[in-house]
Amino acid sequence: MKFLRLLIILFVLPTFAQQGGMWIPSLLKGMNETEMKNLGMKISADDIYSVNHSSLKDAVPHFDGGCTAEVISPKGLILTNHHCGYDNIQSHSSVEHDYLTDGFWAMKMEDELPNKDLFVTFIVRIEDVTNKVLEGVVNLPTEAEKQKKIQDNISMLNKTLPKEAYQENSIRTFYDGNQYILFVTETFRDVRLVGAPPSSIGKFGSDTDNWVWPRHTGDFSLFRIYADKNNRPAAYSKDNVPYTPKHYFPVSIKGIQENDFTMVMGYPGRTQEYLPSYAVEQLMNSLDPARIEVRDRALKVQDGFMRKDNAIKIQYASKYASVANYWKKWIGEVKGLKKSNAVGIKQKFEKDLTDKINKAGKQAEYGNLLLEFKTNYEAIAPYALAREYFSEVVLRNTEILSFAYRLYQLEQVYNTKGEQAFNDRKVNLVAGFEALYKDFNANVDEKVFEQLIDLYANKSPKQFLPATLNNINATQMAEDVFKNSKLTSYNGLKELLNGDAKTVLEKLNQDKAFALVKSIADAYNNNVAPKYDELNLKNIALQRTYMKAIMELSPKSARIFPDANSTLRVTYGKVKGYQPSDAVSYAPITYLNGVMEKYVPGDYEFDVPQRLIDLYNAKDYGQYADKNGKMPVAFIATNHTTGGNSGSPALDANGNLIGLNFDRVWEGTMSDIHYDPVICRNIMVDIRYVLFVIDKYAGAKHLIEEMKLVKPAAKATKKSKK
Ligand code: ARG
Ligand code: ASP
Repeated sequence: MKFLRLLIILFVLPTFAQQGGMWIPSLLKGMNETEMKNLGMKISADDIYSVNHSSLKDAVPHFDGGCTAEVISPKGLILTNHHCGYDNIQSHSSVEHDYLTDGFWAMKMEDELPNKDLFVTFIVRIEDVTNKVLEGVVNLPTEAEKQKKIQDNISMLNKTLPKEAYQENSIRTFYDGNQYILFVTETFRDVRLVGAPPSSIGKFGSDTDNWVWPRHTGDFSLFRIYADKNNRPAAYSKDNVPYTPKHYFPVSIKGIQENDFTMVMGYPGRTQEYLPSYAVEQLMNSLDPARIEVRDRALKVQDGFMRKDNAIKIQYASKYASVANYWKKWIGEVKGLKKSNAVGIKQKFEKDLTDKINKAGKQAEYGNLLLEFKTNYEAIAPYALAREYFSEVVLRNTEILSFAYRLYQLEQVYNTKGEQAFNDRKVNLVAGFEALYKDFNANVDEKVFEQLIDLYANKSPKQFLPATLNNINATQMAEDVFKNSKLTSYNGLKELLNGDAKTVLEKLNQDKAFALVKSIADAYNNNVAPKYDELNLKNIALQRTYMKAIMELSPKSARIFPDANSTLRVTYGKVKGYQPSDAVSYAPITYLNGVMEKYVPGDYEFDVPQRLIDLYNAKDYGQYADKNGKMPVAFIATNHTTGGNSGSPALDANGNLIGLNFDRVWEGTMSDIHYDPVICRNIMVDIRYVLFVIDKYAGAKHLIEEMKLVKPAAKATKKSKK
């Protein structure tokens, strides 16, 4: 027994210690496939991606450009997160049909709800086109000309590379401009809402539990893809039919345990794993803390109002959640970067790389790289900080300033493009503002303004600020702006925008909020933006060369995956608990009894629906309980994921669906910059909980019958064998 354990440790640790990475599905053969098989995978790289036959990639569409989904039936049924379908669920909700609160279930196909702008995109084919994209680029004298030529080549290739009429070509850069890959895609625009649990299941734990393990959220919703009679993409029509997929995932209710192989496929949005230490230091010590402080203040104000006033709570709930999501993530990120000594590890890496550069005699090409990085990151520091404050205070978190900024842009449109363009933009703005004002409360925003303008005037680098922000009294300024600006109401805004261009611009320039934003934005555009852009372009060019050096000089066995860029990736690992801190140890699986432990009757985050309580009390879990009769809810593993991976399928060694990815653990949120396999975990809903809610909670058995369930051998029935 002891010997066996030792053997396992010896065998498992080396591979385990190396995990992390988000890999391109068409390039798994070789090192990745071997590693995956060593970790327990039973299928082949060819089963995951192939152009010759259907493969797993055919069941994993990008959902609405920002999340991932997976096909789980031969009739185009797809599964994604509740928080990914949230806007669509909300858009069908009213006081009479509050699908967010009560959930929604289409009991037959006719009841499935169309969604105006929702789309899903499948990948048909992936192809390296680096040589074509870089044709004629090397000999161009300047960086700007090179970039222009690359862009021209890409547009030309997107048009001319072979594809069907109903498909699109999209060329993306990998490894910071060292590789270019073509994706041939198909986008379906008739995607209907099929089912969603109540928020008390789908968003259980809300912001308090967000980014946290142990977790008990049933974060899922169901949609269905519709196609035309030829199974091709088509705009919504009642004559469309359910899409027949090339592949759909069998759903395994066999259950999981610690150390099982898992793999996640999806569309991770953005990571920065190869930043130099200088950049990580800046992010950790300057940029993250700045944005955290801005959001901290804004959220405190909003929370105070939301707790006292239910109407405000409804108005601000969605905005609050999205601002709080990254606020909380950055706090975790800074802690994690510090605790894992990310800067020290990067410095060591840089020292090793320098040695390799010298050994390889590549000093001419790479010798100055790190010094240039250092100089450039030092130079960009105040500009980057000013940019962060501008974006967080003006564009994002003070609503009246962000409204005024749109009007500032309208004035620019007039100055650069003339009256016709101005009028077109004005019409769009007036229409668009209606929804923004619906969820706007001037009393809340005045208090937010007071807090954030104070930060802006005192914490953003002073040398770039306009005179209007010299020695301000924030309270007085807030009062003055909110008393005198027309932008505090939709009617006021319409009044301001009424008239021809000249009249409108005169009125705008007399408005307090507009005038203030104009002074701030002018100062930003003159003093910060040009210099930031110049230095940033240089960082981008340096990063490309740095990446090239890393790829050239690393041993063949090194795991160099390209940073996330919203393209399809595969990541793999094992179901695994972790030790967040001294003497604390987290198990990898949570259960329904944990939901009941967190239950706070009537609480907006931790309420539990009566029907779920009843099922729990009766232990009425059907075929979905684990072998001890418990109902699993969520689990964690060592898959390397990021924003955009929400809704991604979690698969077992045979490519069967076992879970639905939706988050990461608090201590590992720095994984976008520095992945540490010891502490970074992704969080998934156990698929058995999803099925249990669909079947037992909602009574939507017909959906289960569409799926192909893979059941434990001992309990296999005739039905599961066919
Ligand atoms: N943290 C997860 C992600 O980044 C879930 C966010 C949705 N949930 C929430 N409470 N805001 O998207
Ligand atoms: N919750 C994220 C998403 O929505 C996933 C993550 O950041 O881990 O994509």
